[in-house]
Amino acid sequence: MTAHTAIRIDGNALAAKVRDRIAADVTALKSRGITPGLAVVLVGEDPASQVYVRNKVAACAKVGMHSVMHRLPVSTTEAELLALIDALNRDATIHGILVQLPVPKHINEKRVLEAVAAAKDVDGFHAENVGALMIGEPRFVSCTPAGCMEMLKDIGLIGEGADLRGKHAVVVGRSNIVGKPMAMLLLHANATVTICHSGTKDLAAQCHQADVLVAAVGRPRFITADMVKPGAVVIDVGINRLPESEGGKLVGDVDFDGVNQVAGYLTPVPGGVGPMTITMLLQNTLVAANLAAK
Ligand code: GUN
Repeated sequence: MTAHTAIRIDGNALAAKVRDRIAADVTALKSRGITPGLAVVLVGEDPASQVYVRNKVAACAKVGMHSVMHRLPVSTTEAELLALIDALNRDATIHGILVQLPVPKHINEKRVLEAVAAAKDVDGFHAENVGALMIGEPRFVSCTPAGCMEMLKDIGLIGEGADLRGKHAVVVGRSNIVGKPMAMLLLHANATVTICHSGTKDLAAQCHQADVLVAAVGRPRFITADMVKPGAVVIDVGINRLPESEGGKLVGDVDFDGVNQVAGYLTPVPGGVGPMTITMLLQNTLVAANLAAK
């Protein structure tokens, strides 16, 4: 008998499909004289952030969007960063503004995120956009949770008359960027939602309830096979680099090999949620450009 393995949700393939649709919409907007534009701002030299922003700028080019990258030294003051954001807010060629996180410690992250015009906040981090999601009228939704929902749509769990009614979704992690908006999106899809975090008692038992399990904890291979209900849909948001002593490779928050034998569906790392996150950024920038065109 061959061992059970989960169906892999291929983030690269799904991202390519969604990007084709976005590219077609960009072409249509351009024919009306509007080129969607994204400004990416990076302060400092964080190596992971440098990779992320490079990927974001490259993704824009592939779908025909305009993008500008602002790389500022780590010594940049908060006032200087706020002045750049103000200029970008006023720049009619820029529809989306993204300030890569984390910003250096001497800069107040909250003040920076609130300085981005809500109508250009393609990260969905501004309180106005977070609030809009909360009341069920989403405009810009944080890209990673939005990408996870696209994956659930792709496997037919939501959309086209399907939703998560009667299903239990468990989100492990409560960040403003992923855990909280993810839980809200699942709730709006009619799931019964549990948010777990470092203070949760008997995390394994909570996770084992999940028909849909989203791991966003930032700890390598944290979710193990014994924590997963047979047949569950497991979405792995984690991107963790193992120490050189353990091979130095990228792994998720899910122990892929173990969970693969229990789950019904599973996203790989890399090639799962990551490409969807960038695709949703393009999608949000397109929405911003369409809003500006009205
Ligand atoms: N740092 C880690 N994830 C993200 C993200 O989605 N957006 C921004 N701006 N910074 C991040």
